[in-house]
Amino acid sequence: MEEADPQQELKSQAQIFNHIYSFVNSHVLKCAIELGIFDTIHGSKGGKPMTLSTLATTIPLNSINTRNLHRLMVYLVHMGLLQKNVTLEEDEFSLTQLGEFLVKDGEKSLVNWALAIINEAVGMGCWHHLSRCCSLESGGPTLLEEMHGMSAWEYVGKNPEVNRLINDAMASDTKLVMPAFIQGCGHVLEGIGSLVDLGGGTGMAMNMVAEAFPHLKCTVFDLPHVVETAPAYPNVSFVGGDMFEFVPNADAILLKFMLHNWQDDGCIKILKKCKDAIPKVGGKVMIVEIILDLEDDDEDLIRSKHSLDLDMMVATGGKERTEEEWKVLINSAGFSGLEIVPIMAIQSVIMAYP
Ligand SMILES: C[S@@+](CC[C@H](N)C(=O)[O-])C[C@H]1O[C@@H](n2cnc3c(N)ncnc32)[C@H](O)[C@@H]1O
Repeated sequence: MEEADPQQELKSQAQIFNHIYSFVNSHVLKCAIELGIFDTIHGSKGGKPMTLSTLATTIPLNSINTRNLHRLMVYLVHMGLLQKNVTLEEDEFSLTQLGEFLVKDGEKSLVNWALAIINEAVGMGCWHHLSRCCSLESGGPTLLEEMHGMSAWEYVGKNPEVNRLINDAMASDTKLVMPAFIQGCGHVLEGIGSLVDLGGGTGMAMNMVAEAFPHLKCTVFDLPHVVETAPAYPNVSFVGGDMFEFVPNADAILLKFMLHNWQDDGCIKILKKCKDAIPKVGGKVMIVEIILDLEDDDEDLIRSKHSLDLDMMVATGGKERTEEEWKVLINSAGFSGLEIVPIMAIQSVIMAYP
């Protein structure tokens, strides 16, 4: 047997330790958000580097152990979220381009997504029992649903705090993906008169569309407890209901991060309802979803898409799909054609034509 290269062996050991401890990334990230580290550094004199002792004065805790704070900062540097500048007096820290995504009020902030996912109530606890997923029946309760004894949507409906966390998380995705959607699909939106955002949450996506295309009649449809908490937007109307019962008529229907929450039979029901609600000629369903394993995807994109896939398995019972799986699903719902529009986002747009 060939002897292992000791350097490679050591690297492999380190990689396994990194896999074992990858939960540290999530928790350090959440802790830094809670302590306001990204916001404080971002806000410091136009984002200038900040010393540890200055940062320590802003931490919202009664007493500060600066040595421990420093250890966290060093880990954040290794995560690529902060940069350390060594000076003669005291080390200073600044945000990297990656860290900017974790500023709460940043245009492209993923803070609310992090707070919803790295959260006990939303299901962190389930991940300890992940192996059970391999024995759960398809279509039966997910790990999250077993934990709470009800469907994910019922649970959200009964817990205003979780409802807020989920809606805020979805809004943070909206801020990232909708400018790319508007840019990639603007020519389609120019040519239609009405659009329904099915499962459109509290309406942020639709408001962005309404602002960019004032001629469009824009409607958000979602469960009553969701639309009840929606802010009023000019030129956006809200309808509460169950999409398995009713989908409002429109020239086009937007389904953003919706179908990945359901298994194929649920998706086919939703898509059939959508097909009935749009014109036979010129109607379209615009599906904004992840497509797994696209040829150009790099390792980061592949990993993030597959993480979301497992998240769907644990939480809602849905899944992310490959291009082939999307084609089969859309054909099964009776659509005659589809087109994939790549956009600068983790999701693509899949146009389904009746
Ligand atoms: C993952 S969120 C996506 C929200 C939004 N499309 C977005 O991307 O920000 C799924 C949405 O589907 C809604 N939903 C779940 N079941 C529904 C139903 N039966 N009828 C209408 N909306 C539903 C939820 O309330 C939630 O807002």
